[in-house]
Amino acid sequence: MNEQIEAYAKRLKLSWIREHFDDVEAETNKEYLLKLFEKEVENREERKINLLLSQAQLPKTGDNPFEWEHIQIPQGIDRETILNGDFIHNRENLILYGGVGTGKTYLASLISLNAIHRFGSKVKFFTVASLVNKLIEANQNGSLQKLLKQIKKLDLLVLDELGYIPLHKEGAELLFQVISMCYEDKSIVITTNLQFGQWNHVFGDPILTEAVIDRLIHHSHLLLFTGDSFRYKESLTHR
Ligand SMILES: Nc1ncnc2c1ncn2[C@@H]1O[C@H](COP(=O)(O)OP(=O)(O)OP(=O)(O)O)[C@@H](O)[C@H]1O
Ligand SMILES: [Mg+2]
Repeated sequence: MNEQIEAYAKRLKLSWIREHFDDVEAETNKEYLLKLFEKEVENREERKINLLLSQAQLPKTGDNPFEWEHIQIPQGIDRETILNGDFIHNRENLILYGGVGTGKTYLASLISLNAIHRFGSKVKFFTVASLVNKLIEANQNGSLQKLLKQIKKLDLLVLDELGYIPLHKEGAELLFQVISMCYEDKSIVITTNLQFGQWNHVFGDPILTEAVIDRLIHHSHLLLFTGDSFRYKESLTHR
């Protein structure tokens, strides 16, 4: 009988039940069934979250509590809405701007983690350089449409480190294409060390730069990261 149960569970894709139905104890049939369902659902959610986490490719972050003291938040949004990912439902964008080591990547990662755990959001974390390389490669080997389609399915796209490396013409145009495709439809979180006035150095073309900024500003909140580098502070305290 066990084999038959396992075979049915497999056909029905009830993987937790298939492995554990024999270990569950209960007083009544109904209680038994309830426990099986509960565990199967729990296990499914857990697997879904793990899959979303591995697809998101978030960078490793510390586990310090996040400090907001040196971050200026504009009107119209607050810490809660930023962290709990509510801006994602409103398809708003965040631009995290400030100096090195001030927590931009850290906050972008925390937001991503929360969105995955709370809503099961599809998130993907790219450095701008890695996304642009991927886009150029896809463009050259004919798989650009496929890559754009994957990006289109996301709820949240994180673009880390805009401004650290200037882009070539092809890269800038492809990145513009991604931003154009996403800015109204889903949320983008961008981290950057450059003010808008300097984005020209990244995109290389004033008209393209203006078009990017125009799209982004539309539904965006600009967070200002002031303060000193946490990396520097941490290295001092470890000494
Ligand atoms: N606001 C913060 N609260 C707590 N820890 C922080 C904060 N900001 C930074 N840190 C610590 O400093 C480390 C470096 O921060 P992070 O990588 O987010 O900086 P960044 O702003 O992305 O810098 P860069 O521009 O060089 O990429 C984090 O992993 C974290 O340990
Ligand atoms: Mg960073």
